[in-house]
Amino acid sequence: MERTFAIIKPDAVERNLIGKILERIESKGFRIAAMKRARLTLEQAEGFYHVHKERPFFKDLTTYMSAGGPVVLLVLEKDNAITGWRELMGATNPKDAADGTIRKEFAVDIEKNSVHGSDSPENAAFEISYFFSQTEILS
Ligand code: CMP
Repeated sequence: MERTFAIIKPDAVERNLIGKILERIESKGFRIAAMKRARLTLEQAEGFYHVHKERPFFKDLTTYMSAGGPVVLLVLEKDNAITGWRELMGATNPKDAADGTIRKEFAVDIEKNSVHGSDSPENAAFEISYFFSQTEILS
């Protein structure tokens, strides 16, 4: 059993897509081990995305993830959860995302791409602990 971290981003929350996205997550066999709605501060978004701080899109991304509206933070559990959640999300750019993926169906563009997922076990551990304490995660 592996854990990964997911965010339902402001563009999806704003369009009332929380239920549709959670339905896809659960129907693929993930357990939702932790979940909360939050409005990120700019500082929280900058810390969360610190690996991208030299990228040209960093300022727009962190502004969008904070001022853009509330998000839903999730810890997902399943065998091979990290890879499985990345497959279910689809490619970062919805133009490249495969049919049947969340980003293909719901994303607006490469920034407002509806969902986030950890890309490695190390990042999953960092991202989960960034937003959740151990006592908030129930297997
Ligand atoms: P996410 O998986 O959350 O990781 C970094 C985010 O930066 C990405 O999804 C997009 O929302 C955003 N982003 C904006 N522009 C780009 C880009 N050119 N390449 C990668 N990510 C981008």
